[in-house]
Amino acid sequence: MAGRKATFFHLSERGGLIMQTLHDNPTIITYGTFDLFHVGHIRLLRRLSALGKRLIVGCSTDEFNEGKGKRTAIPYHHRVEILQSCRYVSKVIPENSWDQKRRDIVKYKVGLFAMGSDWAGKFDELNDLCDVIYLPRTQDVSTTELKELIQRMRVDKVA
Ligand code: CTP
Repeated sequence: MAGRKATFFHLSERGGLIMQTLHDNPTIITYGTFDLFHVGHIRLLRRLSALGKRLIVGCSTDEFNEGKGKRTAIPYHHRVEILQSCRYVSKVIPENSWDQKRRDIVKYKVGLFAMGSDWAGKFDELNDLCDVIYLPRTQDVSTTELKELIQRMRVDKVA
């Protein structure tokens, strides 16, 4: 598998190779915080689940986020419960560290590692273990923007 090239969702170019890998190992994995679960998250998970048989989501724990200087509005166990209730998700695992991905890929026999395009290029080194793709993000929605909107709504209400 050495020498694979990570791809920015070039299914037309590499569809054959990706489909063969997924046929052999039809498990897909992705990671994220998924705070204030929104339509950008849903669309990513829906597109990913359509590519294989099983979608595993690594959900960032509150402690892991704190280490990155990120505070969530929804606590970890609630974010997990929301993800588990999503029909596109087969299994949710905790994301505790940056370096667990290689272990997870081997442990769960993952054929495809996928993230949104804000992470493009960041995980290419995993492509000795499985295919790596980055899907285009949904425009005009993010947890950060939702938090900013809620903040503005509170200020407007007070004013
Ligand atoms: N994502 C997406 N489209 C969006 C927002 C997120 O496809 N509009 C994807 C991200 O690229 C990532 C996954 O959803 O692969 C989880 O993203 P996360 O960081 O939890 O969500 P964001 O809304 O990007 O949160 P933040 O604003 O805190 O970065």
